[in-house]
Amino acid sequence: MKISVLGSGGWGIALAMSAESNGHQVLLWSPFESEVNELLVSRESKKLLKGVKIPESINITTNLSLIENSDITIIATPSIAVRETAVRLKNIKSTGIVVNVAKGFEAESLKRLSEVISNEISAPVVVMSGPSHAEEVARKVPTSLVACSKDYDAARAVIDAFSSEFFRLYTNDDMVGVELGGALKNIIAVAAGICDGLGLGDNTRAALITRGLTEIARLGVALGAKERTFAGLSGLGDLIVTCTSRHSRNHRFGELIGQGLGIKDALQEVGTVEGYYATELAYKLALKVGAEMPIISKCYEVLYQNLDVKEAIKYLMLRPIRDEQESLWISKQD
Ligand SMILES: NC(=O)c1ccc[n+]([C@@H]2O[C@H](COP(=O)([O-])OP(=O)(O)OC[C@H]3O[C@@H](n4cnc5c(N)ncnc54)[C@H](O)[C@@H]3O)[C@@H](O)[C@H]2O)c1
Repeated sequence: MKISVLGSGGWGIALAMSAESNGHQVLLWSPFESEVNELLVSRESKKLLKGVKIPESINITTNLSLIENSDITIIATPSIAVRETAVRLKNIKSTGIVVNVAKGFEAESLKRLSEVISNEISAPVVVMSGPSHAEEVARKVPTSLVACSKDYDAARAVIDAFSSEFFRLYTNDDMVGVELGGALKNIIAVAAGICDGLGLGDNTRAALITRGLTEIARLGVALGAKERTFAGLSGLGDLIVTCTSRHSRNHRFGELIGQGLGIKDALQEVGTVEGYYATELAYKLALKVGAEMPIISKCYEVLYQNLDVKEAIKYLMLRPIRDEQESLWISKQD
């Protein structure tokens, strides 16, 4: 098969290498000359995946027309660049199945990224999501994800192309649930990082993960997701890995804030932090549908309105007592 990966960051490189080791013809594209030149010279991203050599057989290029007649085209850019990347694909003769691996929403429209892609091109769209750090996938650490699509055959084709003893994929057709799990877990990871930066403990992180999952599921169900999706790889699985791992940029960003760094400086230090942008968008989405999301609301106030992190935690701990089992769908008026 011919597999093209758009975006030569950590995740793009790791996926390109997984496809290459399954015997596919692989092309890795970036719009940035400097990035491509560095990868061509050293066959390594010293900043993102130090010590991981990219095989010579992967064609690294800035020439997008070379992806023509791909069987699978993967979008592995930051979420902010997904629409412009989909627009570029309009001029390509046959992209094959388009797989989105970016996690987030579109800022202006609050659309899910698969909706953004389908607005621009008519190819079948698959979302690949779940607990997966590029640093581990590139080193062939066993990893399990979901390939989610309304088109079962497209999801199966992606699964067949990527499956190996290191990479296991499950089908799923709940696009809303899978995409929301992937986008919103980054917010909870920022919150977990803040608590770790403050020197709080395992109890706090575990509480954030479980109550954070309840909030994510609440918004997801309000938007039409299946509740059980949030207990799966793209929900709980991804939430655990992002909130507990040293590889997560979202967690690292939060940690720096917890240690007292300003928001702008922390963003500068870490690079792409999807959770920062997702916080504002999730806050707006929750207001729109009337879903109660106390953790995400407080994250928004900390990141965008200078609320002190200790005040945010105090507020969350002293909220009115609730039954843990109460229905997922609780409107703001309840
Ligand atoms: N890193 C991971 O382990 C991981 C795992 C799963 C999902 N993801 C998701 O995948 C996406 C990419 O993550 P990453 O860590 O590789 O990010 P990154 O910032 O390391 O790299 C993104 C790459 O996208 C390309 N790019 C950047 N701006 C672009 C633009 N305007 N137009 C076209 N291409 C552009 C560049 O080649 C850049 O290197 C994110 O949404 C992230 O949440 C990452």
